[in-house]
Amino acid sequence: MEKISIFIETYGCQMNEYDSDRIINSLMANPVKDPEDADIIIVNTCAIREKADHKAVSAVGKYKKLKIKNPDLVIGMAGCVAQLYGKKLIKQIPHLDFVVGPREIPKLRDLVFDIKQSPNHRRINTSMDVEEVFKVSPYHQPGKVNGFVSIQQGCNKKCAYCIVPTVRGNEINRPLKEILEESRLLINQGAKELTYIGQTVNSWKYEGEKFYNLLDHLEELEGLERIRFTTSFPRDITSKMINSMKKNTKVCRQLHLPVQSGSNRILKQMNRSYSIEWYRECISKLKESMPDLSISTDIIVGFSDESDKDFEETMQLVEDVKFDTIYSFKYSVRPGTPGEKMTNHVADNIALDRLHHLQMRQREISLENNTKQLNKSYEVLIENKSKNNPNELFGRTSQNKAVYVKNVGEEYIGEIVKVTKIEAFQNSFIGELT
Ligand code: SAH
Ligand code: F3S
Repeated sequence: MEKISIFIETYGCQMNEYDSDRIINSLMANPVKDPEDADIIIVNTCAIREKADHKAVSAVGKYKKLKIKNPDLVIGMAGCVAQLYGKKLIKQIPHLDFVVGPREIPKLRDLVFDIKQSPNHRRINTSMDVEEVFKVSPYHQPGKVNGFVSIQQGCNKKCAYCIVPTVRGNEINRPLKEILEESRLLINQGAKELTYIGQTVNSWKYEGEKFYNLLDHLEELEGLERIRFTTSFPRDITSKMINSMKKNTKVCRQLHLPVQSGSNRILKQMNRSYSIEWYRECISKLKESMPDLSISTDIIVGFSDESDKDFEETMQLVEDVKFDTIYSFKYSVRPGTPGEKMTNHVADNIALDRLHHLQMRQREISLENNTKQLNKSYEVLIENKSKNNPNELFGRTSQNKAVYVKNVGEEYIGEIVKVTKIEAFQNSFIGELT
């Protein structure tokens, strides 16, 4: 098969971004920026909330015109919606040639080859029992400063609201050797910062090695400047992990630690396996050990029968911890999850009010936190040119804060420089070389 041109539209989390880059390499394809130039179009979908899976279907819908113009065009759907609805999608969307689940990405080349041979036979490849789920490494855009490495597929936690264990299967941990090999591959292609990803990344273990040992191994990778990881599960934060984060200088001062709710009653219904006291204690230990650590979280409002009091407890947590960023969502019932069987749902308008209230307050807190960092100097890894201002470059601090740096030349891209923050916004800063 000659090199094909591919256009991928990606929804959802970092795992999907990573998978989209693996799709490119799995097909040995050439990525293009305009769908009109593509031989194959793939929509890589997210099923985490109902809104997201509606988006996926309409995204595929808009490529129908191109298929009419060019009947040789192959259109596929990948990701969690593909895995969840498989056959239904093939029935519902006549111009869709195939659906492929996350675990089948390494076999995509065979699938597309097959379609080229007999185009009228539409395919549904959503098996979970696939060997070598990690086999293909992601495509790395030349010169890109950062990249992702998956260290874990699936999730064993079974939170009551969550579709991930259904669509991504049980937890499978990637062998250490493969993690190091893929890291080296990306470093050799120019990556300076790697983000290690998994649904509960800090529960990674392999042949006696634990997550905290993994950080030690990554620290030794030559050419790698920064190490990030996401998403951590609160219950799996250990003292050894905290010590390892602190000790290893390449590990960034950033932790995403989803709490979901501030109420023990709701956490229990969610099956989150920690109490809010435990979570608070964990945050204290982390901050004590690393005072400059930036902590972000996820919160779901309106889960099950969440009362005003439960929600107030969430707000109290937000007041006390003063997270840098909160990703907050209105609960969305997902098919086949334990949450689906729960009754007494919170009315939609109440959940929306709570979400709004939380988001308004968090905006103030984020800005307050950021304002405290003004006129101080931080190390910024410059990633690229600013999209809005030709005189600025874009980079991030170790705490993952976005900084637009004034009056610097492109030669700084890929370098870590000292920057003084001179203007603070809710989600970013303007800075100048210190
Ligand atoms: N394991 C990862 C991915 C979970 S999905 C993690 O812990 O981050 C990302 C976030 O989406 C979750 O943390 C949760 O806050 C939110 N989420 C998951 N299922 C949801 C649902 N059914 N309704 C609303 N938000 C949901
Ligand atoms: Fe979902 Fe809970 Fe796992 S949020 S991905 S089941 S840790």
